[in-house]
Amino acid sequence: MHDLVQDYYGRQLQHTGDLKTTACCDIDQVPDWLKPLLARIHPEVQSRYYGCGLVCPPLLAGCRVLDLGSGSGRDVYALAQLVGADGEVVGVDMTAEQLEVANRHIDFHAEAFGYRKVRFLQGYIERLDELALEPGSFDVIVSNCVINLSPDKDAVLRGVHRLLKPGGEFYFSDVYADRRVPEAVRNDPVLYGECLGGALYWNDFQRLAQRQGFADPRLVADRPLAVTEPELAIRTGNLRFFSATYRLFKLDALEMACEDYGQAVIYRGTIPNHPDRLAFDKYHDIETGRVFPVCGNTWQMLQGSRFAPHFEFIGDFSRHYGLFAGCGSGSSMPFDTAAAAAAAASSCC
Ligand SMILES: C[S@@+](CC[C@H](N)C(=O)[O-])C[C@H]1O[C@@H](n2cnc3c(N)ncnc32)[C@H](O)[C@@H]1O
Repeated sequence: MHDLVQDYYGRQLQHTGDLKTTACCDIDQVPDWLKPLLARIHPEVQSRYYGCGLVCPPLLAGCRVLDLGSGSGRDVYALAQLVGADGEVVGVDMTAEQLEVANRHIDFHAEAFGYRKVRFLQGYIERLDELALEPGSFDVIVSNCVINLSPDKDAVLRGVHRLLKPGGEFYFSDVYADRRVPEAVRNDPVLYGECLGGALYWNDFQRLAQRQGFADPRLVADRPLAVTEPELAIRTGNLRFFSATYRLFKLDALEMACEDYGQAVIYRGTIPNHPDRLAFDKYHDIETGRVFPVCGNTWQMLQGSRFAPHFEFIGDFSRHYGLFAGCGSGSSMPFDTAAAAAAAASSCC
């Protein structure tokens, strides 16, 4: 599979418009604060963007960030502006042609930003231990439309867990299916290269994450993907695909379910670009200054991570009240399906 994917992203695709699905169309509106940062990125890097979501979480100033499958570097160069001169962004990719574009524009971006805190490494995301990266040394790891392409997703998440600091976060966008992808689709080289064949059934992803130490994966955003080439649409049949962004915290204290301890938090409104509210995930849109009831896991995610100084914490774990409803678990399908049919008929790439 590695050879197939390297050929697809190294030689077959030349720019975003060559893709055969709407995976690359960030119809998630790019927030206003991010637009000027993207505008400073070199046009050639932009033209070879193959991501499927936004991987710029808040509070990155001074952070060490790793991008898995960084491609030609669009997200690395966006993140470099968010971590600033005191942080660092490392991109890892296995495809020489992608890395060549990313590396060729290091000077251009160093001049534009006024500092050089970016480097790209060639390697496999299943074998991060071969890259001389210190265990427990990254605040945040991101990835954009890459894990689906990996033939060993357990190894990827194991490596992520090893490299994150305690309280660190894996924040990534990828493609998921509404059911297990049949073998014929999995073995189709174009569907695999297009990030569909290797997509995980969403519930298998939940189990995989839990197996690798991320007890409570949080869905941030999702949108349906359309297979825009009729021939490929016939081959995928009734399968439905979604682009989804998840955040996974490395916190030993997280439980497998959201439990109610009668706790609450108050957001101080102090996170840059989020003065009025913080959309922590799809089910937690936390208004500034308001007492917001949370489960034990959300409390831990906020209290045990870089978010802590921006919240007041009410309660403790001394009394248990049963399961906490409201974190989105228990639904038969976490993604919004209403727009899926309409999206299947549209194209924007
Ligand atoms: C769909 S592109 C996304 C690139 C980039 N994240 C972006 O948003 O433009 C997938 C990228 O992941 C890289 N990739 C896929 N599987 C990989 C693996 N197992 N190890 C390292 N890189 C991989 C490919 O070389 C390619 O550059």
